[in-house]
Amino acid sequence: MINYSDRMADALVDVLRYSNANVEWPEPSDLKPNDGVSPEWFYPTIESELYSEISSILQYTQQAGLYDDTIGELTLGIALVEMKHYASVRDAIIALGGTLPQPYSNKNIILGNTPVEALALAAEGEIATIKFYKSIELKLSGNTDSVNITRQLLNKLIADERLHLTLINQKLKSMTDDKEKYETVVKNLLPEIEAFTL
Ligand SMILES: [Fe+2]
Ligand SMILES: [Fe+2]
Repeated sequence: MINYSDRMADALVDVLRYSNANVEWPEPSDLKPNDGVSPEWFYPTIESELYSEISSILQYTQQAGLYDDTIGELTLGIALVEMKHYASVRDAIIALGGTLPQPYSNKNIILGNTPVEALALAAEGEIATIKFYKSIELKLSGNTDSVNITRQLLNKLIADERLHLTLINQKLKSMTDDKEKYETVVKNLLPEIEAFTL
């Protein structure tokens, strides 16, 4: 049976400018168990780590509420894309024969005390997420269907996270109006930030 709410959510996320339209989604449900990809590799992406998709959804939605007038649209827009990420990783884990890890702890969710701090923390999370997805890429070898689909999935996830980081970095630059302030607040805290933007 066609799941219309899933399709509607996909269509909505596709038109948002918070997802990288240049890179397409593969179909995670086409993955198979014992085909060169272990479901456990993806478990941290839905557990309590700073870089997990659940952590990013909770961080962005709460930051959107706290700082609605300055960064609310950006953080809520990104949060919607993180929900799609969560759904794709969840589908991948199930198709690979894994089980969804439980329970979730929100100990790594830090919201920041100002909008600039909130975005710097969000940027830190995006960088950690990109690094984690790249670490899964390094585990892939061979040319099975599941390996190829996983490469596409990681490619899409990384492209989106790099877009998020780029948008956050642009916003941080506009909020820390002079260059010196940007260097102090952002570059000192996150020296790698520009290496991971688009
Ligand atoms: Fe994500
Ligand atoms: Fe992201």
